[in-house]
Amino acid sequence: MTTPPWNVQKTEAAYYELLAGGARYALFTSMCDLYLPEILKGGEKDAEELVTTLGIAPHRGRKWLHALHLAGFLDKLPLPDGGEQINGLDAPPRYRLSPLIRSMFGEDGYGGWFFREFLRYYRTALLYPLPNLLYGMQLAQPVRYPPLDPGDNHLLHDWMRSAALATLAVIRRYVDFSRYERLLDVGGGDGTMALQLYRSFPELLITVFNMPQPTDMVQELALKNNAWDRIGGIAGDFRTDPLPGGNNAVMFSRVLADWPPELCKRLLHKAHKALLDDGHLIICEPLYDHNQDLSLVWEHSYVPYDDFGLQCYKPLSLYERLLKETGFELISVHPPDEETIHCVILARRLDLPPEPPAPIPPGEAAASEPTASETAASKAVVSGAVASDAAASETVASETVASEAAASEPAAKEAAAQQEAVKE
Ligand SMILES: C[S@@+](CC[C@H](N)C(=O)[O-])C[C@H]1O[C@@H](n2cnc3c(N)ncnc32)[C@H](O)[C@@H]1O
Repeated sequence: MTTPPWNVQKTEAAYYELLAGGARYALFTSMCDLYLPEILKGGEKDAEELVTTLGIAPHRGRKWLHALHLAGFLDKLPLPDGGEQINGLDAPPRYRLSPLIRSMFGEDGYGGWFFREFLRYYRTALLYPLPNLLYGMQLAQPVRYPPLDPGDNHLLHDWMRSAALATLAVIRRYVDFSRYERLLDVGGGDGTMALQLYRSFPELLITVFNMPQPTDMVQELALKNNAWDRIGGIAGDFRTDPLPGGNNAVMFSRVLADWPPELCKRLLHKAHKALLDDGHLIICEPLYDHNQDLSLVWEHSYVPYDDFGLQCYKPLSLYERLLKETGFELISVHPPDEETIHCVILARRLDLPPEPPAPIPPGEAAASEPTASETAASKAVVSGAVASDAAASETVASETVASEAAASEPAAKEAAAQQEAVKE
Protein backbone atom coordinates (compact mmCIF):
# COMPACT_ATOMS: atom_id res chain seq x y z
CA MET A 1 0.00 0.00 0.00
CA THR A 2 1.10 3.54 -0.71
CA THR A 3 3.21 4.86 2.13
CA PRO A 4 2.39 7.78 4.45
CA PRO A 5 2.46 10.77 5.01
CA TRP A 6 -1.05 11.05 3.60
CA ASN A 7 -1.05 14.07 1.35
CA VAL A 8 -3.82 14.47 -1.27
CA GLN A 9 -1.94 12.56 -3.93
CA LYS A 10 -1.09 9.60 -1.72
CA THR A 11 -4.54 9.43 -0.20
CA GLU A 12 -6.11 9.30 -3.68
CA ALA A 13 -3.54 6.73 -4.79
CA ALA A 14 -4.24 4.57 -1.74
CA TYR A 15 -7.99 4.85 -2.31
CA TYR A 16 -7.70 3.65 -5.92
CA GLU A 17 -5.17 1.01 -4.99
CA LEU A 18 -7.79 -0.32 -2.64
CA LEU A 19 -10.55 -0.38 -5.25
CA ALA A 20 -8.13 -1.81 -7.79
CA GLY A 21 -7.98 -4.91 -5.58
CA GLY A 22 -11.71 -5.38 -6.20
CA ALA A 23 -11.27 -4.79 -9.94
CA ARG A 24 -8.43 -7.30 -10.10
CA TYR A 25 -10.45 -9.84 -8.17
CA ALA A 26 -13.46 -9.51 -10.50
CA LEU A 27 -11.27 -9.69 -13.59
CA PHE A 28 -9.34 -12.66 -12.29
CA THR A 29 -12.43 -14.69 -11.42
CA SER A 30 -14.07 -13.88 -14.77
CA MET A 31 -10.90 -14.95 -16.57
CA CYS A 32 -10.99 -18.28 -14.72
CA ASP A 33 -14.74 -18.70 -15.32
CA LEU A 34 -14.24 -18.19 -19.07
CA TYR A 35 -11.27 -20.60 -19.19
CA LEU A 36 -8.96 -18.00 -20.65
CA PRO A 37 -5.80 -19.75 -19.34
CA GLU A 38 -6.89 -23.00 -20.99
CA ILE A 39 -7.77 -21.21 -24.24
CA LEU A 40 -4.58 -19.18 -24.55
CA LYS A 41 -2.19 -21.71 -22.97
CA GLY A 42 1.37 -20.69 -23.86
CA GLY A 43 0.23 -19.13 -27.16
CA GLU A 44 -1.23 -15.83 -28.35
CA LYS A 45 -4.43 -14.66 -30.02
CA ASP A 46 -5.72 -11.30 -31.14
CA ALA A 47 -8.70 -9.62 -29.50
CA GLU A 48 -11.10 -10.52 -32.33
CA GLU A 49 -10.14 -14.19 -32.24
CA LEU A 50 -10.61 -14.26 -28.48
CA VAL A 51 -14.01 -12.57 -28.67
CA THR A 52 -15.11 -15.09 -31.30
CA THR A 53 -13.69 -18.11 -29.48
CA LEU A 54 -15.35 -17.08 -26.23
CA GLY A 55 -18.60 -16.03 -27.94
CA ILE A 56 -18.74 -12.83 -25.89
CA ALA A 57 -20.20 -9.42 -26.75
CA PRO A 58 -17.47 -7.80 -28.92
CA HIS A 59 -17.44 -4.26 -27.51
CA ARG A 60 -17.52 -5.38 -23.88
CA GLY A 61 -15.13 -8.22 -24.66
CA ARG A 62 -12.50 -5.88 -26.07
CA LYS A 63 -12.75 -3.62 -22.99
CA TRP A 64 -12.52 -6.66 -20.75
CA LEU A 65 -9.37 -7.86 -22.50
CA HIS A 66 -7.84 -4.40 -22.18
CA ALA A 67 -8.68 -4.37 -18.46
CA LEU A 68 -7.12 -7.83 -18.07
CA HIS A 69 -4.02 -6.38 -19.65
CA LEU A 70 -4.02 -3.41 -17.24
CA ALA A 71 -4.46 -5.83 -14.34
CA GLY A 72 -1.30 -7.68 -15.37
CA PHE A 73 -3.05 -10.88 -16.42
CA LEU A 74 -2.54 -10.53 -20.19
CA ASP A 75 0.52 -9.26 -21.99
CA LYS A 76 -0.13 -7.23 -25.12
CA LEU A 77 2.35 -7.96 -27.88
CA PRO A 78 4.11 -4.95 -29.43
CA LEU A 79 3.62 -3.84 -33.03
CA PRO A 80 6.12 -5.28 -35.57
CA ASP A 81 8.13 -2.05 -35.28
CA GLY A 82 8.27 -2.46 -31.51
CA GLY A 83 5.78 0.33 -30.83
CA GLU A 84 2.74 -0.04 -28.59
CA GLN A 85 -0.43 -1.24 -30.28
CA ILE A 86 -3.24 1.23 -29.63
CA ASN A 87 -6.81 0.03 -29.38
CA GLY A 88 -8.97 1.56 -32.08
CA LEU A 89 -6.04 2.94 -34.08
CA ASP A 90 -4.08 -0.15 -34.97
CA ALA A 91 -4.97 -3.75 -35.81
CA PRO A 92 -6.65 -5.73 -32.99
CA PRO A 93 -4.10 -6.26 -30.24
CA ARG A 94 -2.54 -9.66 -29.76
CA TYR A 95 -2.59 -11.02 -26.25
CA ARG A 96 -0.94 -13.81 -24.36
CA LEU A 97 -1.05 -14.88 -20.74
CA SER A 98 1.29 -12.89 -18.55
CA PRO A 99 4.15 -14.73 -16.82
CA LEU A 100 2.19 -14.47 -13.55
CA ILE A 101 -0.84 -16.30 -14.94
CA ARG A 102 1.35 -18.89 -16.63
CA SER A 103 3.09 -19.42 -13.30
CA MET A 104 -0.29 -19.99 -11.63
CA PHE A 105 -1.93 -22.19 -14.25
CA GLY A 106 1.03 -23.71 -16.07
CA GLU A 107 2.04 -23.47 -19.72
CA ASP A 108 -0.94 -25.61 -20.77
CA GLY A 109 -3.36 -23.48 -18.72
CA TYR A 110 -4.79 -26.46 -16.86
CA GLY A 111 -2.65 -26.34 -13.71
CA GLY A 112 -3.13 -24.42 -10.50
CA TRP A 113 -5.52 -26.88 -8.89
CA PHE A 114 -5.15 -25.41 -5.43
CA PHE A 115 -5.54 -21.84 -6.68
CA ARG A 116 -8.82 -22.81 -8.34
CA GLU A 117 -9.97 -24.76 -5.30
CA PHE A 118 -9.29 -21.95 -2.87
CA LEU A 119 -11.00 -19.48 -5.19
CA ARG A 120 -14.11 -21.64 -5.13
CA TYR A 121 -14.11 -21.69 -1.32
CA TYR A 122 -13.34 -17.98 -1.09
CA ARG A 123 -16.12 -16.95 -3.47
CA THR A 124 -18.64 -18.77 -1.34
CA ALA A 125 -17.46 -16.94 1.77
CA LEU A 126 -17.64 -13.64 -0.13
CA LEU A 127 -21.26 -14.14 -1.10
CA TYR A 128 -22.45 -13.37 2.41
CA PRO A 129 -23.02 -9.65 2.92
CA LEU A 130 -20.78 -8.61 5.80
CA PRO A 131 -23.26 -6.29 7.53
CA ASN A 132 -25.88 -9.05 7.58
CA LEU A 133 -23.30 -11.47 8.94
CA LEU A 134 -22.37 -9.04 11.66
CA TYR A 135 -26.01 -8.68 12.65
CA GLY A 136 -26.16 -12.43 13.16
CA MET A 137 -27.27 -13.83 9.81
CA GLN A 138 -27.65 -17.60 10.10
CA LEU A 139 -25.87 -19.67 7.47
CA ALA A 140 -27.60 -22.66 5.94
CA GLN A 141 -24.27 -24.34 5.19
CA PRO A 142 -21.49 -23.07 7.41
CA VAL A 143 -18.00 -24.38 6.96
CA ARG A 144 -17.17 -26.54 9.96
CA TYR A 145 -13.66 -26.94 11.30
CA PRO A 146 -12.42 -29.55 11.81
CA PRO A 147 -14.76 -30.92 9.16
CA LEU A 148 -17.70 -33.01 10.29
CA ASP A 149 -18.84 -34.19 6.90
CA PRO A 150 -16.79 -37.10 5.45
CA GLY A 151 -16.70 -35.45 2.03
CA ASP A 152 -15.35 -32.24 3.53
CA ASN A 153 -12.72 -34.19 5.39
CA HIS A 154 -11.58 -35.76 2.14
CA LEU A 155 -11.52 -32.37 0.48
CA LEU A 156 -9.44 -30.86 3.29
CA HIS A 157 -6.97 -33.69 3.01
CA ASP A 158 -6.85 -33.43 -0.79
CA TRP A 159 -5.89 -29.80 -0.26
CA MET A 160 -3.24 -30.74 2.24
CA ARG A 161 -1.85 -33.66 0.26
CA SER A 162 -1.35 -31.42 -2.74
CA ALA A 163 1.47 -29.58 -0.93
CA ALA A 164 2.43 -31.99 1.86
CA LEU A 165 5.65 -33.28 0.31
CA ALA A 166 6.82 -29.84 -0.76
CA THR A 167 6.18 -28.58 2.78
CA LEU A 168 8.02 -31.54 4.29
CA ALA A 169 10.96 -30.86 1.99
CA VAL A 170 11.20 -27.38 3.50
CA ILE A 171 11.08 -28.78 7.05
CA ARG A 172 13.76 -31.33 6.20
CA ARG A 173 16.12 -28.60 5.12
CA TYR A 174 16.31 -27.49 8.74
CA VAL A 175 15.42 -30.55 10.78
CA ASP A 176 17.55 -33.67 10.99
CA PHE A 177 14.96 -36.38 11.67
CA SER A 178 17.66 -39.05 11.90
CA ARG A 179 18.40 -37.86 15.45
CA TYR A 180 14.93 -38.79 16.70
CA GLU A 181 13.52 -42.16 17.72
CA ARG A 182 9.92 -41.12 18.21
CA LEU A 183 8.12 -38.36 16.38
CA LEU A 184 4.60 -37.18 17.11
CA ASP A 185 3.01 -35.47 14.11
CA VAL A 186 0.07 -33.52 15.52
CA GLY A 187 -2.68 -32.93 12.98
CA GLY A 188 -0.53 -34.92 10.59
CA GLY A 189 -3.02 -34.99 7.72
CA ASP A 190 -3.63 -38.32 6.00
CA GLY A 191 -0.11 -39.55 6.80
CA THR A 192 1.54 -38.43 3.54
CA MET A 193 4.35 -36.75 5.45
CA ALA A 194 4.65 -39.67 7.88
CA LEU A 195 5.05 -42.12 5.02
CA GLN A 196 7.81 -40.06 3.43
CA LEU A 197 9.63 -39.85 6.77
CA TYR A 198 9.13 -43.58 7.28
CA ARG A 199 10.85 -44.28 3.99
CA SER A 200 13.73 -41.90 4.65
CA PHE A 201 14.43 -42.77 8.30
CA PRO A 202 14.34 -46.53 8.92
CA GLU A 203 14.63 -46.18 12.70
CA LEU A 204 11.95 -43.54 13.18
CA LEU A 205 8.68 -44.39 14.93
CA ILE A 206 5.97 -42.00 13.88
CA THR A 207 2.67 -41.35 15.63
CA VAL A 208 0.13 -39.27 13.77
CA PHE A 209 -2.47 -37.70 16.06
CA ASN A 210 -5.58 -36.62 14.24
CA MET A 211 -9.36 -36.58 14.30
CA PRO A 212 -10.97 -40.01 13.82
CA GLN A 213 -11.67 -39.90 10.08
CA PRO A 214 -8.21 -38.65 9.06
CA THR A 215 -6.71 -41.19 11.45
CA ASP A 216 -8.46 -43.90 9.45
CA MET A 217 -6.81 -42.42 6.35
CA VAL A 218 -3.40 -42.58 8.06
CA GLN A 219 -3.95 -46.19 9.02
CA GLU A 220 -5.11 -47.11 5.53
CA LEU A 221 -2.10 -45.42 3.97
CA ALA A 222 0.28 -47.19 6.37
CA LEU A 223 -1.38 -50.52 5.69
CA LYS A 224 -1.35 -50.07 1.95
CA ASN A 225 2.35 -49.26 2.01
CA ASN A 226 3.25 -51.94 4.52
CA ALA A 227 4.41 -49.20 6.85
CA TRP A 228 2.19 -49.98 9.81
CA ASP A 229 5.17 -51.30 11.81
CA ARG A 230 6.46 -47.75 12.39
CA ILE A 231 3.50 -45.50 11.59
CA GLY A 232 0.68 -45.39 14.10
CA GLY A 233 -2.45 -43.30 14.04
CA ILE A 234 -4.02 -42.13 17.26
CA ALA A 235 -7.47 -40.64 17.02
CA GLY A 236 -8.38 -37.74 19.23
CA ASP A 237 -9.35 -34.12 19.32
CA PHE A 238 -6.47 -31.96 20.44
CA ARG A 239 -8.86 -29.35 21.77
CA THR A 240 -9.90 -31.72 24.48
CA ASP A 241 -7.57 -34.70 24.55
CA PRO A 242 -3.99 -34.95 25.75
CA LEU A 243 -1.29 -35.79 23.23
CA PRO A 244 0.48 -39.16 23.39
CA GLY A 245 3.74 -38.86 25.38
CA GLY A 246 7.32 -40.13 25.24
CA ASN A 247 8.45 -38.34 22.07
CA ASN A 248 11.80 -36.90 21.06
CA ALA A 249 10.07 -34.51 18.70
CA VAL A 250 6.59 -33.09 18.27
CA MET A 251 5.70 -31.52 14.94
CA PHE A 252 2.95 -29.06 14.04
CA SER A 253 2.94 -28.57 10.29
CA ARG A 254 0.29 -26.22 8.95
CA VAL A 255 -1.78 -26.75 12.06
CA LEU A 256 -1.21 -23.78 14.36
CA ALA A 257 -2.10 -21.25 11.65
CA ASP A 258 -5.56 -22.74 11.78
CA TRP A 259 -6.16 -21.85 15.41
CA PRO A 260 -6.35 -18.77 17.60
CA PRO A 261 -3.52 -17.87 20.01
CA GLU A 262 -5.24 -19.15 23.14
CA LEU A 263 -5.70 -22.61 21.66
CA CYS A 264 -2.16 -22.62 20.26
CA LYS A 265 -0.89 -21.89 23.76
CA ARG A 266 -2.89 -24.82 25.01
CA LEU A 267 -1.47 -27.03 22.26
CA LEU A 268 2.09 -26.03 23.08
CA HIS A 269 1.45 -26.91 26.73
CA LYS A 270 0.28 -30.32 25.56
CA ALA A 271 3.32 -30.68 23.31
CA HIS A 272 5.56 -29.87 26.28
CA LYS A 273 3.97 -32.73 28.21
CA ALA A 274 4.25 -35.06 25.22
CA LEU A 275 8.02 -34.48 24.87
CA LEU A 276 10.90 -36.16 26.64
CA ASP A 277 13.52 -33.94 28.32
CA ASP A 278 15.28 -31.76 25.75
CA GLY A 279 12.81 -32.92 23.13
CA HIS A 280 12.31 -30.78 20.06
CA LEU A 281 9.27 -28.89 18.90
CA ILE A 282 9.03 -28.42 15.13
CA ILE A 283 6.66 -25.78 13.85
CA CYS A 284 6.09 -25.09 10.16
CA GLU A 285 3.50 -22.44 9.40
CA PRO A 286 2.83 -19.42 7.23
CA LEU A 287 3.48 -16.43 9.48
CA TYR A 288 1.72 -13.12 9.31
CA ASP A 289 5.08 -11.32 8.96
CA HIS A 290 5.76 -12.87 5.56
CA ASN A 291 2.19 -13.43 4.31
CA GLN A 292 0.14 -10.34 5.00
CA ASP A 293 -2.19 -10.56 2.01
CA LEU A 294 -2.65 -14.29 2.51
CA SER A 295 -3.52 -13.65 6.17
CA LEU A 296 -6.02 -10.94 5.28
CA VAL A 297 -7.73 -13.10 2.66
CA TRP A 298 -8.01 -16.15 4.91
CA GLU A 299 -9.05 -14.21 8.02
CA HIS A 300 -11.69 -12.44 5.95
CA SER A 301 -12.94 -15.78 4.66
CA TYR A 302 -13.32 -16.98 8.27
CA VAL A 303 -15.63 -14.18 9.35
CA PRO A 304 -18.86 -16.01 8.34
CA TYR A 305 -17.85 -19.31 9.90
CA ASP A 306 -18.09 -19.42 13.67
CA ASP A 307 -15.85 -22.45 14.06
CA PHE A 308 -12.88 -20.33 13.11
CA GLY A 309 -11.17 -18.37 15.83
CA LEU A 310 -9.70 -14.91 16.02
CA GLN A 311 -6.20 -14.15 14.71
CA CYS A 312 -5.21 -17.51 13.32
CA TYR A 313 -2.32 -16.06 11.32
CA LYS A 314 0.22 -14.98 13.84
CA PRO A 315 3.50 -13.06 13.67
CA LEU A 316 6.79 -14.57 14.75
CA SER A 317 6.78 -12.43 17.89
CA LEU A 318 3.58 -14.14 19.03
CA TYR A 319 5.03 -17.62 18.42
CA GLU A 320 8.09 -16.54 20.40
CA ARG A 321 5.89 -15.41 23.25
CA LEU A 322 3.84 -18.63 23.19
CA LEU A 323 7.00 -20.75 23.23
CA LYS A 324 8.42 -18.84 26.15
CA GLU A 325 5.19 -19.08 28.11
CA THR A 326 4.89 -22.81 27.57
CA GLY A 327 8.42 -23.85 28.58
CA PHE A 328 10.37 -23.87 25.31
CA GLU A 329 13.66 -22.35 24.28
CA LEU A 330 13.96 -21.19 20.70
CA ILE A 331 16.68 -23.03 18.76
CA SER A 332 16.28 -21.48 15.31
CA VAL A 333 13.88 -19.66 13.03
CA HIS A 334 13.96 -20.22 9.26
CA PRO A 335 11.94 -17.63 7.38
CA PRO A 336 10.47 -18.48 3.97
CA ASP A 337 12.52 -18.14 0.83
CA GLU A 338 11.48 -18.15 -2.82
CA GLU A 339 10.56 -21.85 -2.66
CA THR A 340 8.02 -21.59 0.16
CA ILE A 341 5.63 -19.40 2.11
CA HIS A 342 6.32 -21.31 5.33
CA CYS A 343 8.54 -20.46 8.24
CA VAL A 344 10.16 -23.29 10.17
CA ILE A 345 10.63 -22.77 13.89
CA LEU A 346 12.64 -25.18 16.03
CA ALA A 347 12.48 -25.11 19.81
CA ARG A 348 13.74 -27.20 22.70
CA ARG A 349 11.68 -28.35 25.66
CA LEU A 350 13.03 -26.87 28.86
CA ASP A 351 12.68 -28.79 32.02
CA LEU A 352 10.94 -25.88 33.67
CA PRO A 353 7.37 -26.00 34.73
CA PRO A 354 5.60 -23.88 32.12
CA GLU A 355 3.13 -21.28 33.28
CA PRO A 356 -0.22 -22.92 33.85
CA PRO A 357 -2.68 -22.05 31.10
CA ALA A 358 -5.08 -19.34 32.15
CA PRO A 359 -8.64 -20.62 32.43
CA ILE A 360 -11.17 -18.86 30.29
CA PRO A 361 -13.96 -17.22 32.28
CA PRO A 362 -17.10 -19.37 32.03
CA GLY A 363 -19.12 -16.58 30.42
CA GLU A 364 -16.56 -16.19 27.70
CA ALA A 365 -16.39 -19.91 27.14
CA ALA A 366 -20.14 -20.09 26.76
CA ALA A 367 -20.07 -17.27 24.25
CA SER A 368 -17.64 -19.26 22.21
CA GLU A 369 -20.00 -22.14 21.60
CA PRO A 370 -20.37 -22.72 17.88
CA THR A 371 -23.67 -21.40 16.70
CA ALA A 372 -23.55 -22.73 13.21
CA SER A 373 -25.83 -25.50 12.12
CA GLU A 374 -24.24 -28.86 11.61
CA THR A 375 -25.58 -29.43 8.18
CA ALA A 376 -23.14 -31.24 6.05
CA ALA A 377 -20.98 -28.48 4.96
CA SER A 378 -21.04 -26.98 1.60
CA LYS A 379 -18.68 -28.53 -0.84
CA ALA A 380 -17.35 -25.07 -1.02
CA VAL A 381 -15.48 -25.73 2.03
CA VAL A 382 -12.59 -26.28 3.97
CA SER A 383 -9.41 -24.49 4.40
CA GLY A 384 -6.28 -25.68 5.81
CA ALA A 385 -7.72 -23.76 8.52
CA VAL A 386 -9.40 -24.15 11.55
CA ALA A 387 -11.62 -23.85 14.22
CA SER A 388 -12.49 -21.67 16.59
CA ASP A 389 -14.13 -20.00 19.16
CA ALA A 390 -15.40 -23.37 19.96
CA ALA A 391 -11.77 -23.98 20.45
CA ALA A 392 -11.54 -21.24 22.98
CA SER A 393 -13.64 -23.23 25.32
CA GLU A 394 -11.08 -25.94 24.91
CA THR A 395 -8.59 -23.92 26.81
CA VAL A 396 -10.35 -24.97 29.93
CA ALA A 397 -10.60 -28.60 29.01
CA SER A 398 -9.23 -31.10 31.40
CA GLU A 399 -5.97 -32.68 30.34
CA THR A 400 -7.21 -35.90 31.75
CA VAL A 401 -9.75 -36.62 29.08
CA ALA A 402 -8.76 -39.92 27.57
CA SER A 403 -7.59 -40.10 24.03
CA GLU A 404 -9.90 -42.92 23.32
CA ALA A 405 -12.03 -39.86 22.72
CA ALA A 406 -11.37 -40.86 19.25
CA ALA A 407 -14.89 -41.18 18.14
CA SER A 408 -16.56 -38.71 20.40
CA GLU A 409 -18.16 -35.51 19.26
CA PRO A 410 -16.11 -32.34 19.79
CA ALA A 411 -19.15 -30.28 20.69
CA ALA A 412 -20.05 -32.65 23.51
CA LYS A 413 -16.50 -32.47 24.77
CA GLU A 414 -16.51 -28.74 24.66
CA ALA A 415 -19.67 -28.69 26.71
CA ALA A 416 -17.99 -30.99 29.23
CA ALA A 417 -14.94 -28.76 29.22
CA GLN A 418 -17.07 -25.76 29.99
CA GLN A 419 -18.64 -27.53 32.90
CA GLU A 420 -15.12 -28.24 34.14
CA ALA A 421 -14.36 -24.58 33.86
CA VAL A 422 -17.43 -23.66 35.80
CA LYS A 423 -16.35 -26.08 38.51
CA GLU A 424 -12.94 -24.44 38.62
C1 LIG B 1 -4.11 -28.01 7.56
S1 LIG B 1 -4.05 -29.71 7.87
C2 LIG B 1 -2.30 -30.03 7.96
C3 LIG B 1 -1.95 -31.46 7.65
C4 LIG B 1 -0.45 -31.81 7.71
N1 LIG B 1 0.12 -31.51 8.99
C5 LIG B 1 0.29 -31.10 6.61
O1 LIG B 1 1.05 -30.14 6.84
O2 LIG B 1 0.12 -31.52 5.45
C6 LIG B 1 -4.56 -29.69 9.55
C7 LIG B 1 -4.71 -31.06 10.15
O3 LIG B 1 -5.11 -30.90 11.52
C8 LIG B 1 -6.13 -31.85 11.80
N2 LIG B 1 -6.97 -31.33 12.87
C9 LIG B 1 -7.80 -30.26 12.80
N3 LIG B 1 -8.44 -30.10 13.96
C10 LIG B 1 -8.01 -31.07 14.78
C11 LIG B 1 -8.31 -31.40 16.13
N4 LIG B 1 -9.19 -30.68 16.82
N5 LIG B 1 -7.70 -32.47 16.68
C12 LIG B 1 -6.81 -33.21 15.95
N6 LIG B 1 -6.47 -32.91 14.67
C13 LIG B 1 -7.06 -31.85 14.10
C14 LIG B 1 -6.90 -31.96 10.49
O4 LIG B 1 -7.67 -33.15 10.45
C15 LIG B 1 -5.76 -31.92 9.48
O5 LIG B 1 -5.24 -33.20 9.26
